Amino acid sequence: MKLAFIGRGNVGTALSTGLARAGHEVRFGHRDPKEPVQAAAGWGEVIFLAVPFSGVEEAVRGIGRAADGKVLVDVTNALDQHMDLAIGFSTSGAEELQKKVPAARVVKAFNTVFAQNQSSGRVGNEQLTAFVAGDDPEAKGVVMRLASDIGFDPVDTGPLKSARYLEPMGIMMIGLGYTLGMGTGIGYRLVRK
Ligand SMILES: NC(=O)c1ccc[n+]([C@@H]2O[C@H](COP(=O)([O-])OP(=O)(O)OC[C@H]3O[C@@H](n4cnc5c(N)ncnc54)[C@H](OP(=O)(O)O)[C@@H]3O)[C@@H](O)[C@H]2O)c1
Repeated sequence: MKLAFIGRGNVGTALSTGLARAGHEVRFGHRDPKEPVQAAAGWGEVIFLAVPFSGVEEAVRGIGRAADGKVLVDVTNALDQHMDLAIGFSTSGAEELQKKVPAARVVKAFNTVFAQNQSSGRVGNEQLTAFVAGDDPEAKGVVMRLASDIGFDPVDTGPLKSARYLEPMGIMMIGLGYTLGMGTGIGYRLVRK
């Protein structure tokens, strides 16, 4: 297929490399006048939007009507200048809990795992990740060790604020398991080299 990448940065380069290797034709559009956005978008059968979130509006203006009827793949993450999500999450249940019990050391963990898999930390033979977030390193360490004791692969996801992102992962898991019919024999696993 003819694939247009709006954005020639990390993502545009990586995805286009993989797709070109698979035999697709690729072209780029960005703010360089030598590679105009509209020309690339007009040429592509599928358009990948791979620009920073702050550039989406301008890029979309550049695409204009060229995306009409076409697949437009949004690879962007809606991040603000602090690398926080610009849309959707400015707090979490865990942070609100911490406000209610300021002297406690709140740690978010296990919310992305179905109860059916919480006693083993596994789905079949596959080890699941226990994502752990908290502001107190010692408290977080305790929870990570406990997760490991169960059989999980514990992963430190940073401050309690990360619960803003872990909580939606939990909701997604419920959606996959129940609404989308995959059942509870599923779980997240972070793959590392
Ligand atoms: N990097 C990752 O691992 C990763 C993974 C998943 C998703 N994402 C998301 O994917 C998007 C791209 O990330 P990236 O890492 O590839 O960013 P990047 O390396 O900074 O590249 C951004 C590209 O967008 C172009 N650009 C910026 N503003 C533009 C505009 N208004 N119109 C047209 N082109 C514009 C830039 O080129 P010019 O300056 O020449 O215009 C550049 O080629 C972001 O939304 C990011 O959150 C990133």
